[in-house]
Amino acid sequence: MKMDKGNGEKKEFFQLNRRRFLSLSGILGLALIAGKPDITMAIAEKEGKMTYQVKDYNRLIGMEGFSETLLKNHFTLYQGYVTNTNKLMDGLNQLLKEGKTGTPEYAELKRRLGWEFNGMRLHEYYFENLGGKGGIQKGGKLFQKLTESFGSYEAWEKDFKATGSMRGIGWAVLYQDILSGKFINFWINEHDVGHPAGGMPILIMDVFEHAFMIDYGLKRGDYMEAFFRNINWTEVEKRLLLHKG
Ligand SMILES: [Fe+2]
Repeated sequence: MKMDKGNGEKKEFFQLNRRRFLSLSGILGLALIAGKPDITMAIAEKEGKMTYQVKDYNRLIGMEGFSETLLKNHFTLYQGYVTNTNKLMDGLNQLLKEGKTGTPEYAELKRRLGWEFNGMRLHEYYFENLGGKGGIQKGGKLFQKLTESFGSYEAWEKDFKATGSMRGIGWAVLYQDILSGKFINFWINEHDVGHPAGGMPILIMDVFEHAFMIDYGLKRGDYMEAFFRNINWTEVEKRLLLHKG
C-alpha cells in the first residue's frame, strides 16, 4: 500500500495482504481507505457483503477451559451485535435518504453505531484469536516486536494480564500503532471507548463477565490463564503490520 508521506514522495509504508486490508476496513482502518470508495465498493461487491454476516465459531467448542454452554451463550451474544449493526446501518441510510440527518433519531442511531459495530468486530477478532495450541513462537516476528516494545515477552504478558484484570467490564487489546509500529496494551471500556486512533488490533481478550462467569465465577485470573493456553498465535501474527521504514 502506498501512502503519501507529505513530501510529495510516495513511499511504500506497509505490506498489506488482502486479509489485512479487510481487517483494516474494520474498527479504525477506514481512515486508511478514505477517498478510495471505488476500492471498498469493489471488495464489498466481490465478497457479496453489503450487510454484515454472522461468522461461525463452532470450531471452538471443545476448547480446553471453555465450556460449551459458555461458548454458545457467547456466540449468541455476538450474533446480536451483527444483527444490530445491520439494523443501525439500514436505519441511518434510510434517514439520510429521507433528509432527516438533523434529527435526534439520526444522532442517537449514529451514537449507537460505535457500540454495536465494535461489539461485532471485537468479538470476531476475539474468537478468531482463540483455538490455538502451543505458546507464541519464540524468535518469531511478534515475539521480537513485543520484546522491543516491552523489554521482554514476559513483561508484555504481565502488562496485558494486568490490563485485563482491571476492575470494570471491557476488553484488553494489544494494539499496534500503525504510524510508529509500536505495541501498546489498551483497556477498552465496554466496546466503544478507548480505542487508539489508527490502531491495528493484534490480540483481543474479552473481559466482560459473560466471557468467563459461567465457568469461573469471579476468578477472572483463571479465565485469563485458560485464554492464554488457547491463543491462536498463528492467527495473531497474521495481523501484524510489517513496517519497512
Ligand atoms: Fe463478549
